[in-house]
Amino acid sequence: MSAQVAARTSITLGTLAARKEAGEPIVMVTAYDYPGAQIVEAAGVDVVLVGDSAAMTVLGYDSTVPVSVDEMIMLTAAVRRGLSSPLLVADLPFGSYEASDELAIATAQRFVKEAGADLVKIERGGTSVDRARALVAAGIPVVGHVGLTPQTATSLGGYRAQGRTAVAARAVRDDALALQEAGCSLLVLEAVPSEVTAALMPHMRVPVIGIGAGPETDGQVLVFHDLLGLYGGGAAKFVKRYADLRTAAIDGVAAYAADVRSAKYPAPEHEYSMPAAEAAELQELIASH
Ligand code: KIV
Repeated sequence: MSAQVAARTSITLGTLAARKEAGEPIVMVTAYDYPGAQIVEAAGVDVVLVGDSAAMTVLGYDSTVPVSVDEMIMLTAAVRRGLSSPLLVADLPFGSYEASDELAIATAQRFVKEAGADLVKIERGGTSVDRARALVAAGIPVVGHVGLTPQTATSLGGYRAQGRTAVAARAVRDDALALQEAGCSLLVLEAVPSEVTAALMPHMRVPVIGIGAGPETDGQVLVFHDLLGLYGGGAAKFVKRYADLRTAAIDGVAAYAADVRSAKYPAPEHEYSMPAAEAAELQELIASH
């Protein structure tokens, strides 16, 4: 496939609704910086998520919980500078929206005004349904996120599939429907059995983007570092690796190190030069001082 950047029309919420209507899958992927944004733009994705997975993939925290609003705003703004066509969604980090509608609106406004986010994403049902309603009323489009919600993974029993009993599955469905009724524009459905997705989809008017939720959603999302093989360590069951950039990067840096140590780099083509007369004069100047 060519690496050329094709000119594309900007994606809108209307585009996504039309895709759902037509049964054309929506492609969403995460990105966390300017070159990452340029890559996913060139690849022609529809929606880019600056996920709080950034906490682990680029900032080295051991969960998504510690990442701050300021850190997420810096990453989102960098992605914004590298994007033009896809919709840009930013995750509101843990602790930045749950306590009140006012807090949620103030945080979300920062992502829109300072970082250029088109939509914000919040996790869970429960109180997040109220937060979603308040954000929508304040004019900020919202993406809901149910199923496995990493910000509250501890209370869910860890990073594991959700909705594996009929009662638990009904709770996932209830959260999804409540977020839809609250006005969410999109829903992310993470790590649930495909049967749960199949039972939910006939009731969803807004596009549902799955990650580990089977093939019946309106689209799929994966983490950039997972799909490109940039992240060391094990990946979730639902991850498909499309490249092994970590190995390619290690090989590249190791080859550079070997070249420096064996004096193969820099070679003459990497050097600057000065006119011979200037070089001779330089020698004289140095000699006379
Ligand atoms: O933070 C993130 O990357 C996410 C996706 C996994 C949906 O929420």
